[in-house]
Amino acid sequence: LFARPWDFVKGCVRIDDLPPTDRTEIAFAGRSNVGKSSLINALTGRVNLARTSNTPGRTQELNIFEANDAPLRIVDMPGYGFAKAPKKTVETWTRLIHAYLQGRPNLRRVFVLIDGRHGPKPADETVMNELDSAAVSYQIVLTKADKPKAGELEKIVAKTDQIIAKHGAAHPEMLITSSEKKDGIDGLRAVIAQLLAT
Ligand code: GTP
Ligand code: MG
Repeated sequence: LFARPWDFVKGCVRIDDLPPTDRTEIAFAGRSNVGKSSLINALTGRVNLARTSNTPGRTQELNIFEANDAPLRIVDMPGYGFAKAPKKTVETWTRLIHAYLQGRPNLRRVFVLIDGRHGPKPADETVMNELDSAAVSYQIVLTKADKPKAGELEKIVAKTDQIIAKHGAAHPEMLITSSEKKDGIDGLRAVIAQLLAT
């Protein structure tokens, strides 16, 4: 699946811009700057497929990626929580994010990315609550695992597990990744392949 050449298809600023629901979708959500676009690049093995930046608020649309004939569509989302953008713009993204996450019938799983240096923030729990209410399958992915020291990462993992446990028993196991070091990427690929097989 990820040996195929993945391409950028379009950026959607409104729900009406989205492609038809003919393919299974997975989406990458998370606070601004958590590493959503970087993870998509690592996943697809493309250096700059999804544009990344040091400045929170880089991704401003629902960006759609597809590979020829692949039964999967990847959706890169704008970040929530904070962004270096005008308040009105952030409100527009926030509405778009929520409309997409709660109303997309072919959305098979949302990967909720959490910064491995900081662990879950209130905005992450809000999104988890919303996905629980909408009965959308989601899986937590810790990012930037190359950054914290070993002992710190363990604490963040434990804290994140506690939060996940509060959200019921049915959630798939958290993934720990580094797009920089390509750690955990094969594991993420395997999860996605398994989703398509079931
Ligand atoms: P928005 O689109 O602004 O919401 O951000 P995003 O979640 O798409 O984050 P992006 O992928 O643009 O990455 C943000 C910053 O984090 C960039 O400077 C990346 O180089 C850095 N980054 C992403 N993943 C990793 C990682 O695994 N390790 C390290 N050390 N840095 C990373
Ligand atoms: Mg981005």
